[in-house]
Amino acid sequence: MRTTLMDIRQMKAAGRRIAMLTAYDFPSAKLADAAGVPMLLVGDSLGMVVHGHDTTLPVTLDDMARHAAAVVRGAQKALVVCDLPFLTYASQADAVAAARRLMQEAHVQAVKLEGGRAIAPIVQHLTTLGVPVMGHLGFTPQSQHQLGVRVQAKQAACAKRLVEDALALEAAGAFAVVLELVPAPLAKAVTERLRIPTIGIGAGAGCDGQVQVWHDVLGLFDTSPRHAKRYAEIGAAIETALRAYAADVESGAFPTKGQSSSMDEDELARALA
Ligand code: KIV
Repeated sequence: MRTTLMDIRQMKAAGRRIAMLTAYDFPSAKLADAAGVPMLLVGDSLGMVVHGHDTTLPVTLDDMARHAAAVVRGAQKALVVCDLPFLTYASQADAVAAARRLMQEAHVQAVKLEGGRAIAPIVQHLTTLGVPVMGHLGFTPQSQHQLGVRVQAKQAACAKRLVEDALALEAAGAFAVVLELVPAPLAKAVTERLRIPTIGIGAGAGCDGQVQVWHDVLGLFDTSPRHAKRYAEIGAAIETALRAYAADVESGAFPTKGQSSSMDEDELARALA
């Protein structure tokens, strides 16, 4: 049975913390699903960690649809949320078209949009039409040229705006809100004021759940953000394995007879005659 919006709501009501993780393809989704992660995010962070861009801005709806479809094929149980990429929800019509594509072609169960009160009418339009929406406040990577990559809302006026934005998203029908790079006490206060769950990333332990980027928790790259915990050093393990593979090919240690197939000598002789 796949995790539902109702399950996510009930987790908050029951005080159960919600784990969310990004996934970008079939194997990552399959592994996260097997590990029991209840909610997966096909984040537009894929522009950076999968495609090697500096920001999420070059990511297109085609990119998201392709990756999201693979994630949904890999995840039988997790609720799959997919980011609407930069400038694909500037109008209600654009947002509906983008959500339609991700839900009907890629079969994701929900979409995520960045922004507060300014996009609340779009969130409301989508949710009224039956599209589950997750909000995203604090550091919103699609606005990184305006915001800078740093903790947001440290001053009272900005913090007040963030609280109002969160309430506006809840009123517009969002089922959860990501709080990224928000001071922990502010994230906790928002969490206490909302009926819907907050999912933090760099926002402290007071949120209802946490979301992390696949590559960060698995240690795929040499460095990871301060807010991430490296649960493995998969990058180093992969490099060691690939060095051994390349060395075996060079030395002739791979492949062995066991990794090859044989052929009747007469058949071969006839073929080469
Ligand atoms: O794109 C992404 O991975 C995200 C998370 C950082 C929340 O939006």
